[in-house]
Amino acid sequence: MKLSFSRPSSLASIISPIFTKPKIYTRPISSSSISTRPTSLKPKTPLFLRPPTFSTSISELQKWHNWAQTLASSIGSTFLDFDNGPTSEILKREILWLLEDVLENPKSNFIKNGVFISKSDVLENPKSSLSKNEVFISNGDVLEDVLENPISNLVKDDVFSTNEDVLENPKSRFSEKDDFDTNGDVLVKLRVELEELYELWKQRVEERRPFQYIVGCEHWRDLVLSVEEGVLVPRPETEKIVDLVSDLVEENEMLKEGLWADLGTGSGALAIGIGRVLGSNGRVIASDLSYIAVQVASFNVQRYNLQHKIVLRQGSWFEPLKEAEGELAGLVSNPPYIPSEQISGLQAEVGKHEPRLALDGGEDGMSDLLHLSMGAASMLRPGGYFAFETNGEDQCKFLLNYMETKTKGVFYDLKIVSDFAGIQRFVTGFKVK
Ligand SMILES: C[S@@+](CC[C@H](N)C(=O)[O-])C[C@H]1O[C@@H](n2cnc3c(N)ncnc32)[C@H](O)[C@@H]1O
Repeated sequence: MKLSFSRPSSLASIISPIFTKPKIYTRPISSSSISTRPTSLKPKTPLFLRPPTFSTSISELQKWHNWAQTLASSIGSTFLDFDNGPTSEILKREILWLLEDVLENPKSNFIKNGVFISKSDVLENPKSSLSKNEVFISNGDVLEDVLENPISNLVKDDVFSTNEDVLENPKSRFSEKDDFDTNGDVLVKLRVELEELYELWKQRVEERRPFQYIVGCEHWRDLVLSVEEGVLVPRPETEKIVDLVSDLVEENEMLKEGLWADLGTGSGALAIGIGRVLGSNGRVIASDLSYIAVQVASFNVQRYNLQHKIVLRQGSWFEPLKEAEGELAGLVSNPPYIPSEQISGLQAEVGKHEPRLALDGGEDGMSDLLHLSMGAASMLRPGGYFAFETNGEDQCKFLLNYMETKTKGVFYDLKIVSDFAGIQRFVTGFKVK
């Protein structure tokens, strides 16, 4: 597993900044008016959680790596110029992350930053691949570079006494766990077949399938959430909602121990983030219109062992939680907010692969936000808190103004909150006591 992912651009930053104010208030789709046929019955297991039941030689893996790098290099800045998509450099970084997820032992002495070292390399160039304590320059250099300039990659603490020792007893330099194939090449364990690894990388580059769908997960806050087609990849800006809630519940017992709702939960990111900061009596209802989103969110909830705190429901917005009317201590949502006509211009990874249901906010992007803001007035209990994510400044201002006029006197402390990038992103407030 990699420790840090480069994040996809925010939804707002990948669409045109032009935002037109809504002319009419259209009620969002109801659960009965849309097909929610499952795309699969069971969520897929992310690569890093699969058992390492396959193996290949290090030289076959090196071949795959060379091929994957060549494919990535061929892209140059084509995707960037076309729709702000990934460059070769980004794709090459993803190759390393993919390896980290797919290899049983990515920290093996034989693979470091995309440098593959086979037994013959060790024997021919004893100094080129030394001990556990060696540090390779961490720029993803390929083997050839290392071999051409071995000294630059070698470091302190060579644990081998002499080259002769190594050569006489080459196996001593391999970890005990390493196996060898019939040619004496090191075998490594994989979580997918090598053939599938070729297929996955082809999909990434040729079809622009999002990297997160390739590996089946996304890093979000300190969570690693399972994602797949049909479920939005959670974005970094949304993380701030958990921070807002976390700060609030620290000083407000009613909020800390109360009932919360995360509407349009997707992968379950907000529900899980909030579930973890609530008190022992705090609960979250997480709902989504999408069947697959509910399944994936449920998988993630179980992985974080939060079944006792988070309940999943399928349905449209407030429909699946009618019994909680006037009872909610908190309500959060990151609804679809991209104006319909902008969807076709999105980066291919988003527009072609992420679910339209998660993106399309109607003609002006506001239809779900307006619906949710009205619902908050009746669903929250006195003193209850809400936070809604928007597309940016214009939507924030419009929503704030809408709530101040349409629900006059219902809320207090209505405000716009910026995300980590300083973009006005959220509208928050409390129901009057
Ligand atoms: C922008 S995504 C947000 C997903 C997740 N909360 C996150 O932040 O990553 C919007 C979510 O709303 C869901 N959604 C769209 N229309 C809905 C509706 N009418 N009722 C409930 N959920 C809906 C989508 O399926 C999608 O999961």
